[in-house]
Amino acid sequence: MTPDEFRKHAHELVEWMAGYMENVENFPVKSSVPPGDIFSKIPDQPPEHPESFDSLMKDFNKIIMPGITHWQHPDFFAYFPANVSPPSILAEMLISTLGAQCMIWETSPAAAELEEKMMIWLRDMIGLPKGFEGVIQDSASTATLAAILTAREQITGFSVNYEGAEKAGTLRVYCSDQTHSSVEKAVKISGIGKKNLVRISVKDDFSMDAEKLVAAINEDKKRGFIPCCVVATIGTTGTTAIDPLKAIGKICHENGIWLHVDAAMAGTALILPEFQWMLDGREFIDSFVFNPHKWMFTNFDCTAYFVKDASALIKTFEILPEYLKTRTRGKVNDYRDWGIPLGRRFRALKLWSVIRSYGVAGLREKVRNHISYAARLSEMISKEPDFEILAPVVISVVCFRYIPSGSDNSRINELNEKLNHTLNDSGKLYLSHTVLNGRYTLRMVTSQTNVTLEHVEKAWELIKATARSLILT
Ligand SMILES: Cc1ncc(COP(=O)(O)O)c(C=O)c1O
Repeated sequence: MTPDEFRKHAHELVEWMAGYMENVENFPVKSSVPPGDIFSKIPDQPPEHPESFDSLMKDFNKIIMPGITHWQHPDFFAYFPANVSPPSILAEMLISTLGAQCMIWETSPAAAELEEKMMIWLRDMIGLPKGFEGVIQDSASTATLAAILTAREQITGFSVNYEGAEKAGTLRVYCSDQTHSSVEKAVKISGIGKKNLVRISVKDDFSMDAEKLVAAINEDKKRGFIPCCVVATIGTTGTTAIDPLKAIGKICHENGIWLHVDAAMAGTALILPEFQWMLDGREFIDSFVFNPHKWMFTNFDCTAYFVKDASALIKTFEILPEYLKTRTRGKVNDYRDWGIPLGRRFRALKLWSVIRSYGVAGLREKVRNHISYAARLSEMISKEPDFEILAPVVISVVCFRYIPSGSDNSRINELNEKLNHTLNDSGKLYLSHTVLNGRYTLRMVTSQTNVTLEHVEKAWELIKATARSLILT
């Protein structure tokens, strides 16, 4: 493709992109293609000869678009969002065009230094203590793995990296029974072992019971196990419960245990002064992760990972093959030593673009609005006697179910599962679910970049009407 041909197609694509943004509401939110449908439409063999970009776009529209679930649709209320925004998309265009691979400072000093500065901006925006240093990772799962590996090395005097796990003893990791599955994955990969992940039960509000945590740690010590790491969550996946950081932090401090905080979604709410309480106990944190790619309008992937002591992280991950030796080593941040992959994208640019375009005040306003929509939704649900709220509404997630009178729990579960599928299959909105205390629970997240109160109110009318018609059929 010549530069002129590229220019022509790129202009056409920008038209396509702007049109998509304007019309995203006209697509069904959730793709309804059956399994195997897209696969069967793609030839078994790659083309032997060059094809035009026009023919690719034709197939993109015909084959690919029907198989897309529209995460940027304002009626996308499922999971946690993967929000984008125009300034983030524009920065992605620059990032793709530069194609810089930012593994070390020398391979793009601007990428390394912008990343260092963006992490300081984010750290201060969310209110982490000044000494913390940050690095951008791909996903929260990777950051949590990095935290658990660092905790493992710290507690074993950095011996497992060198000698293997044979003499390390039985390390234990603690989290609540509401913690994201990335923690289980991390203990498996780290060699600590799934059976050494201790799940602490939660209180009525689904936050970790700190007294049960102390009891579990004391019991483990008696048995000769080595408590290594506690993962506290600020905003659990199911209900956005907030684990009591101060109480957990004190326990970690007294027992010499690494405290990792997973604030994947709710971390963004920390930019609001009225949500700073979630970080009460921050002085005890060793590592902290949140995802600008969820709620800070920055394209996937972009994960902010902060550590109190960067040297422990670097000591865990550093490598120095001949080809990576530079004259600047030790004077600059070579981010390849701050995580698992060697190769790194220039992700800081999209954060820079997003934060400058919205301004911190603009980000606060959007996040506050999302939180107010959840509060309004919860108010509307509470007024209906045949619906109930199943967990405290902390930020922008509302957990609820339909409870027609005269049905037992198993019938209610069946009905709510049917309600979830019926709504999602309609293409008009997309919800996800969880199970809380044996109750099938609908989860509605009011944090999509483009959502407004009108979307939430319209969705609620549809949910009510669909639920009430289910019982008639
Ligand atoms: C609390 C929590 N932690 C971690 C993750 C994993 O995020 P990622 O997809 O960035 O690995 C999620 C995903 O939703 C989450 O809800």
